[in-house]
This record gives sequence, C-alpha cells and structure tokens, in this order.
Amino acid sequence: MSQLKNDRYLRALLKQPVDMTPVWMMRQAGRYLPEYREVRAQAGDFMSLCKNPELACEVTLQPLRRFELDAAILFSDILTIPDAMGLGLYFETGEGPRFKKPVTSKADVEALPLFDPEQELGYVMDAVRTIRKNLQGAVPLIGFSGSPWTLATYMVEGGSSKAFTKIKKMAFAEPQTLHLLLDKLADSVTSYLNAQIAAGAQSVMIFDTWGGVLSPRDYELFSLQYMAKIVDGLTREADGRKVPVTLFTKNGGMWLEKIAATGCDAVGLDWTINIADAKARVGDKVALQGNMDPSMLYAPPARIEEEVQTILAGFGQGSGHVFNLGHGIHPDVPPEHAKVFVDAIHRYSQQYHK
Ligand code: CP3
Repeated sequence: MSQLKNDRYLRALLKQPVDMTPVWMMRQAGRYLPEYREVRAQAGDFMSLCKNPELACEVTLQPLRRFELDAAILFSDILTIPDAMGLGLYFETGEGPRFKKPVTSKADVEALPLFDPEQELGYVMDAVRTIRKNLQGAVPLIGFSGSPWTLATYMVEGGSSKAFTKIKKMAFAEPQTLHLLLDKLADSVTSYLNAQIAAGAQSVMIFDTWGGVLSPRDYELFSLQYMAKIVDGLTREADGRKVPVTLFTKNGGMWLEKIAATGCDAVGLDWTINIADAKARVGDKVALQGNMDPSMLYAPPARIEEEVQTILAGFGQGSGHVFNLGHGIHPDVPPEHAKVFVDAIHRYSQQYHK
C-alpha cells in the first residue's frame, strides 16, 4: 500500500475523521492560470495537450504549486471516449467541442466500436501513471469520465447545445436507438474508469453535466440508470485502499436520494441547493462535494471568505464534506481569489472537526 502524505480527500469521501475539510476545484488546471496558458500555447491545441502525458502532468500539478489543494485531478477531457470511437473530436476557438462525424442513426450507433482503453486511450493511462509518479504521494489523484447521457448529448448534437433537440428527438422518437448508445457508453465508461484505476487513479468522478435538462422520469431512464450500472461495474479497491466514486449531476438537486441510492460514495452538488438541506436528505448515506457558486470567486476576498464560512456552517460538524465549486472555475477569475477560497476552507473548517 502506497502511503499518502495527505489523504483527507479520500477520508472525507468515506466519512472518516479528518482534521479539516478537504478542497479541490473543478477545472483547477485551466485558463485562469497564466502558467497553463503558456503550456497550452506550447502544445498547440487543447487535445494535443491532453495527448502529451508529460505536458498533461505538468498542467495537472500547476494548481497544486500555487494552492494547498487536497487532490489532483487528471488533466484530460470527457470527450476522449467519443474521440476514441472515431467521431473526430476538434475544438473550434471560442465555440467549444465539435465532432466531424456525429451519431445520427441506429446504424451509426451499431457501428461504434468498443475499444480497449489501454490501446486507444493509452495516452490517458500514461498521463495517470506519469502524474502518480510525479505526485510522490503528496495528495490523491482523481480520475474521471463523462456520464453516458452527457457523452451522448455531445455525440448526437455534434457538439455543445442549448436546447438538446437532436438528442431529445432520439430519446422520444427512437428510444431503442438511444438506449443502445447509452448501453455501449456505460460499458465503455466502466472499462475506461477501471483502466484509470489500474493505472493509479485513487478515486473517480462521473460528470453528468447535462442530466439536469431531463424530466425526473427521463433522468432516471436515460441518465441515472446508466450511471448506476457503471457504479456496479467499477473496481472499488486498489493498493489496499477503497477507491471512492463521486457522481455529479449538474442541476440534479431534486434527485439526491436517487443518486445516493446507486451505491456511490459521494454526490457532487452545484450551488442551486443548500448544502444543509442536502445533508439532511442524504448525509447518512453518502458524502457531499460542493458547492460554492464559481462566480463567487469574482467577489472581493472578504465576501469569498464569508461564503466559505456559510457553506461550512451549513454542512456543520463532522466528516463527509469535500469542499468544491458547484461547477468549473471561470477562465477570468484572478488566481489570488482561488487562493483566498482554498485557504479559507482549511482555516475555518477546523472547528467542525474537533
Ligand atoms: O477539472 C480539471 O481541472 C480537469 C480537467 C477537465 C477538463 N474538462 C479540461 C478542459 C475536466 C474534468 C473536464 C470535463 C469536461 N469536459 C466536462 C464535464 C465537466 C463540466 O465542465 O461540465 C465537459 C462538459 C467537457 C467538454 C468540454 N471540454 C467543453 C464544453 C470544453 C470547452 C469549454 C470552454 O470553456 O471552452 C472543453 C475544453 C476544456 N476541457 C478546457 C479544459 C481546461 C478548455 C480548453 C482550453 O484550454 O482552451
């Protein structure tokens, strides 16, 4: 069993006692850091950065040099899976991700290959191994994937979307086609995450960014069901330690009990729910991750500290809380404000762990 110097993130996910509340930030490696923009320029485009294990490792570690974060997250993207399936991922400047060959029919879904993650996504596993080696046990490494539903939205829409008309048309006019796609994706995500765990990821998180655009019944049918299948298929122990699983559905506050019932260890919260209410609903079952509005990092330091204290007080006494933003950090946030945020969590949380 490899020794971690700081394991409070893993302990909090398992509701084991900690000395202070751990914190990491979604998109902690990214454009708000000038040193990231420099490496990104050196790599060329975003996917070339993801595909270069040395540079992916470098940008993963950058935020840890600036802030006392309690976890590192693999630098990659959720869209590596559809890319490995041959959809031709590219990024249009200022417009987000795009696919050259979106999925439009049952024949397209049937033609999607099941791939071997160590082969087709070997660059991701190489990044995991390189990061683990360079972390030298300082903090745990988080691996991740998109949820089947969220990946399917990009694959069917051909990129980012606001109204989700194409995927909803498939869901309601041709449900068998979508279920076939989601089932293939659930199997792919399971093997992808298990490969990340085998390569050294010490916890994994599933990003369901778009589950919240569905009705309650359709959320269960098209998103949650497939995340539950993944949770069932994951390797839950490695290196003599439990590998905790976090599920994050943005705008999923209505469905916390159902998410917690999948058997995951933790539920990620966005900022549209009060963490005290969330804890009252599921706190004896799972740990909670979240949930400051990322835009609060635009506020002056005193306001950021006040918000951190409010959220800490909302969760209250004891372990089971991993502090985070409710979604990714914005590219134009001053890095000094991120430092105020991280330091405030450590300073003001100690009183809740006595
Ligand atoms: O959290 C981290 O620091 C790890 C890295 C990470 C990235 N993407 C890096 C990235 C993670 C965990 C993701 C997940 C991801 N990617 C999600 C789920 C989480 C979420 O934010 O909802 C989604 C939906 C994607 C798809 C994606 N990738 C989009 C929509 C974009 C464009 C966003 C934008 O603001 O332009 C990306 C690109 C991307 N992924 C960037 C980063 C740092 C920006 C790329 C750049 O350098 O230009």
